[in-house]
Amino acid sequence: MANDESGLDVAQLRADTLGCSEVDHLNNAGSALPPSIVVDTMIEHLRLEEMKGGYEAHARAAERLDAVRHSIGALLDTSGSNIALSTSATDSWDRAFSAITFAGDFGPDTRILASSSEYASNVLPVMQLARHHGVQLEFIPDDNNGVTDVAALESMLDDDVAVVLINHCPSQNGLINPVAAIGHALARAQSNAWYLVDACQSVGQLPVDAISVGADFLSVTGRKFVRGPRGTGFMYCSARALAELEPFPADLHGANWDPDGYSMRTDAQRFEAWEKSYATLLGLGAAVDYALALGMDAIRMRIDFLAYELRLLLAEVSGVRVLDRGIEKSGIVTFNHERVEAAEIVAGLKNSGINVSMGTPEYSQVDYIAHRVSSLVRVSPHVFNTREEIERCVTLVRGLTN
Ligand SMILES: Cc1ncc(COP(=O)(O)O)c(C=O)c1O
Repeated sequence: MANDESGLDVAQLRADTLGCSEVDHLNNAGSALPPSIVVDTMIEHLRLEEMKGGYEAHARAAERLDAVRHSIGALLDTSGSNIALSTSATDSWDRAFSAITFAGDFGPDTRILASSSEYASNVLPVMQLARHHGVQLEFIPDDNNGVTDVAALESMLDDDVAVVLINHCPSQNGLINPVAAIGHALARAQSNAWYLVDACQSVGQLPVDAISVGADFLSVTGRKFVRGPRGTGFMYCSARALAELEPFPADLHGANWDPDGYSMRTDAQRFEAWEKSYATLLGLGAAVDYALALGMDAIRMRIDFLAYELRLLLAEVSGVRVLDRGIEKSGIVTFNHERVEAAEIVAGLKNSGINVSMGTPEYSQVDYIAHRVSSLVRVSPHVFNTREEIERCVTLVRGLTN
């Protein structure tokens, strides 16, 4: 048995998380239980809107909203001026990708390279470009450990590669892709390709340093390991992205209609829309501040401890196959069973008050096909979960698959 060396006060974390009294929530890669401060912050702003008016409440919260971008900047070890707020990881990613395609002349000579575990919403737009404009979509091979093969990627690079898409932590297994090594490889090759990292599942569970990763964009959601509200997201934009790209279509928040044309904001807010749910974004800020107060190293240690125990116990259940890839593992633990369907296991756990989720190939076809997985159970602990919850979950899996 491993030890939890995070130093976190789990009783306090659970007291801060009201949902812990209701359910064993092991679906934090789906949407995490938020700390109460997140919900309280949102309600407080909604009440302000109710009593003062939406625009007036916004004006009063303007400084706090700026602070949200700065908190996210601190989470990613970068400046708040490199952060754009959005409504989801996909919304962030779409804003980045549409800016890239708007700036480029994408046709049959254009190559877009993607990691094998790329999420569907990041692949579908590339497939549209392939179908309608002849763009070539190529998946980067994995090495023997199932990690994106950096050397193979380097050998694929040429002047026609316009975009490289990498999934930092897939939703369907515990892989952590070497995003910083890939960033270095692109720099070494002096590639002009835009580097987009899907950090939807990594930020909030791992320390992520945007500058070290070297990506042009990191797209993130609020509701997963960050523990923010649904309908929130954010994006890191590099200096190069801000110097060379403009969002398309432009919104009057990111751009200005001048008497003789238009001008763009110089910071990452050029990628934001004017209309926002201020209550949820303030809630997102509260979630980020909560994580910063715990410390990302401690969060990583606590999640790693729980996921390690989970993998160990699951591996002992007859017929269970833990679906890990890579050497270093994230807190996303997935498995299937040789006889019992994932849907049956998920439903059985739900009936016993345990939230987990199910994965199916349409979320990431290439990965599922390569590893011959037709469905899986995903168990994703967060800091407030306990070893007892993990044990109860595995005991129930044993019973359901007996
Ligand atoms: C790896 C990954 N990328 C992107 C997304 C999309 O996130 P969102 O639903 O916030 O757009 C998900 C959602 O599950 C995901 O797991």
